[in-house]
Amino acid sequence: MFYLEGLQVDGFRNYQSQKVRFNPHLNILVGANAQGKTNILESIFYLSVNRSFRTNRDQDLINWESGYFFIKGNFVRDDFKNTVTAGYKKQGPLKINVNSSPAKKYGHMQYYPVVAFSPDDLQIIKEGPSIRRRFINLEASRLSTNYLQNLKDYQRILRQRNKILKENHVRAKLERIIEPWDRALVIKGAALIEERKKIIRSLEEKVQFFFGKMTSSMENISLQYKSSVKDVDILELMQEGFMDDLKTKRDQEMRMGSTLLGPHRDDIKIFINGYDSRSYSSQGQKRTAALALKMAEISLFYDRNRVHPIILLDDVFSEFDESRKLNLLDFIRNNGGQCFITSAVNQDPLLHKLNRPYKMFTISHGSVINEESRTTN
Ligand SMILES: Nc1ncnc2c1ncn2[C@@H]1O[C@H](COP(=O)(O)OP(=O)(O)O)[C@@H](O)[C@H]1O
Ligand SMILES: [Mg+2]
Repeated sequence: MFYLEGLQVDGFRNYQSQKVRFNPHLNILVGANAQGKTNILESIFYLSVNRSFRTNRDQDLINWESGYFFIKGNFVRDDFKNTVTAGYKKQGPLKINVNSSPAKKYGHMQYYPVVAFSPDDLQIIKEGPSIRRRFINLEASRLSTNYLQNLKDYQRILRQRNKILKENHVRAKLERIIEPWDRALVIKGAALIEERKKIIRSLEEKVQFFFGKMTSSMENISLQYKSSVKDVDILELMQEGFMDDLKTKRDQEMRMGSTLLGPHRDDIKIFINGYDSRSYSSQGQKRTAALALKMAEISLFYDRNRVHPIILLDDVFSEFDESRKLNLLDFIRNNGGQCFITSAVNQDPLLHKLNRPYKMFTISHGSVINEESRTTN
């Protein structure tokens, strides 16, 4: 069992200072709109991933009346009880501590895994490639510290290489300077692509299972990693192809002042019944696919680590039809990590189906104004 026992948020979004103690299994946050339900989930996600699921700017998270935010959580597992804190002052840097010792940003999402579901997940299917790259980067980093390190290295190399492309306009001189950066880009880039392809294959199997369940096997889904680099399975050959392609793109890259090939340009295609879902699927199919992807993400993490991630469900029930709701409840029952659900409307009939004791918090104007423990039977 892995769960968040307690949470403290200071100067975070619309919270001045709030402490809460959670139920190890199920927690329901209720309240009218814009009271601070999602903000609590956001702070929990932030403790794990060191990034929000709503914004890339830490600045936005600081309470308008405050100069900093501070989040503290106690994560409990059979073998540990750790206190994680995240503190951010205007102009940063972000400070993460685990049991009062400084820890690295992004360094512990494997140990304190948290996965958020929100109506925005639909974007994974609907929007452009960058959002799917973010999805796979997050999932891969949660599964492997090695991937995370490669990703950081790659991003550093990419920034440096783009700078060189922008600053050098004489071809012969550029060729001399850029050569080692080509090599570094290819080595880190190919490693990322290889890892992503592996994860996509494992995810696909899971997605097919969950998608099949939700559509009574009437529809099928498949995933395909679509690289900007020639698609070969042998790493050395991929590196060679990548290197060759970089050379042929040289003129264009010089003109654009940026790197046009590599994992930062790749995409994941999601097909439903053989058609690219981004262009051809209905809203309902897209929603089901997004939900199945998230379930797959959690299930894969469990297979590899034998830990059920904490699940955050932000307002998702309001968007779902009955069948998706039941499937999601079923998933939560069987993949039993700690779960947090926000809702503006009474969800008692649904909670009844979960058949678990839970704690219900009423949120108003950035405070928890009531909490009660309940049983469903
Ligand atoms: N940085 C901030 N400082 C103060 N209030 C904020 C900040 N960011 C958002 N809010 C407020 O938080 C509220 C929304 O909280 P949220 O958790 O999204 O609501 P909901 O209960 O609907 O999920 C809004 O009233 C918004 O104005
Ligand atoms: Mg909300």
